[in-house]
Amino acid sequence: MLAGKRILLIIGGGIAAYKSLLLIRLLKSAGAAVTPVLTRAGAEFVTPLSVAALAGEKVHQALFDLTDEAEMGHIQLSRVADLLVVAPATADLMAKLATGRAEDLASNLLLATDTPVLMAPAMNVRMWQHPATQRNLATLTADGVRFVGPDQGEMACGEFGPGRMAEPEAIFAAITAALAEGPLQGRHVLVTSGPTHEPIDPVRYIANRSSGAQGTAIAAALRDLGARVTFVTGPATVPPPYGVTVVKVETARQMLEAVEAALPAAAAVMAAAVADWRVTNEGVQKMKKDGSGKAPALEFAENPDILATLSKGPQRPRLMVGFAAETEHVVDHATAKRARKGCDWIVANDVSPATDIMGGTENAVVLISDTGAEHWPRMAKDQVAKKLAQRIADALQNS
Ligand code: C5P
Repeated sequence: MLAGKRILLIIGGGIAAYKSLLLIRLLKSAGAAVTPVLTRAGAEFVTPLSVAALAGEKVHQALFDLTDEAEMGHIQLSRVADLLVVAPATADLMAKLATGRAEDLASNLLLATDTPVLMAPAMNVRMWQHPATQRNLATLTADGVRFVGPDQGEMACGEFGPGRMAEPEAIFAAITAALAEGPLQGRHVLVTSGPTHEPIDPVRYIANRSSGAQGTAIAAALRDLGARVTFVTGPATVPPPYGVTVVKVETARQMLEAVEAALPAAAAVMAAAVADWRVTNEGVQKMKKDGSGKAPALEFAENPDILATLSKGPQRPRLMVGFAAETEHVVDHATAKRARKGCDWIVANDVSPATDIMGGTENAVVLISDTGAEHWPRMAKDQVAKKLAQRIADALQNS
């Protein structure tokens, strides 16, 4: 899949730079050509010699290199690539691109091209969580930059949390996904998945049994057809797919905020099992038994309906797909839901316990659209996802 492709790999300054050497090997063995660019800070962590030896190409380091200017010019460097990959992407490199600064070779290359960009952030957990970095992340995501990672875990600086660069295999998968040539190439598709958690007090919450399996499979299938996928997920048990931009949320209100921040999109598939209600008298402290035997009275408010809000909103994606998990009268309820929420399609299924669908590996769905109800045979959730992704691609192509 990568044979004949050229990746321009910018190696930023961070201890994770050593993983980029492994990434170069993976890319080379898949038949891709790698144009390496080493920032000044990057060269503090890996040597130009190792990078050049693995890539089998000259390493570009300086903005004003007379030989380069004579040969092709630094601007041309990024234009001949199929994809720009920044790994490790430091907080500084993210900030430079988010604000459009062009100070050194790497930032000039990133600014001087309309070639797709994939970033693999790596930084200290506090730097990652800093509002400035998160703002830059949102800006870059809205500009169409793809992200892989960061992962959560122990970091070289001794701290723990999100900030570790994704493993080379994950970056490789994200590169493959970014270069996937399919009918959804160049389209942005939004997917919600998993349950939401609605807090009762600092330690308790209301949840549901959604595993996130179907939403995850749909995001992966859309990615495989070439889409740029933003995957907004509640606390699911199934890990998110590689090669998509993952936004993790807990509550329904956070999910709506994340979904709106990710617009515009050509299509949206709302597969999340969003809690209908949230607790309004959420305890600031853990609720205690007072010995009287009296149970605490929880008060509820209705959560925003993300599917309906988007379907009726000013930035409505062209194709809105909702889900309906029903336990009886599946087609009738789902048809009514389609009208009520203003979406184009409803993927309806029977989740009564006997079907073993909620949390299971198979699904039997009915696709409700303006042309009626189409019953699909029971199949693996991956197969449902592939079939649905293809239908989405067909619908977007025909409109
Ligand atoms: O109303 P119900 O929960 O059955 O609708 C299911 C569909 O609506 C799913 O697509 C789900 O993701 C979406 N939904 C939503 N926001 C809510 C409730 C449901 O987007 N608050």
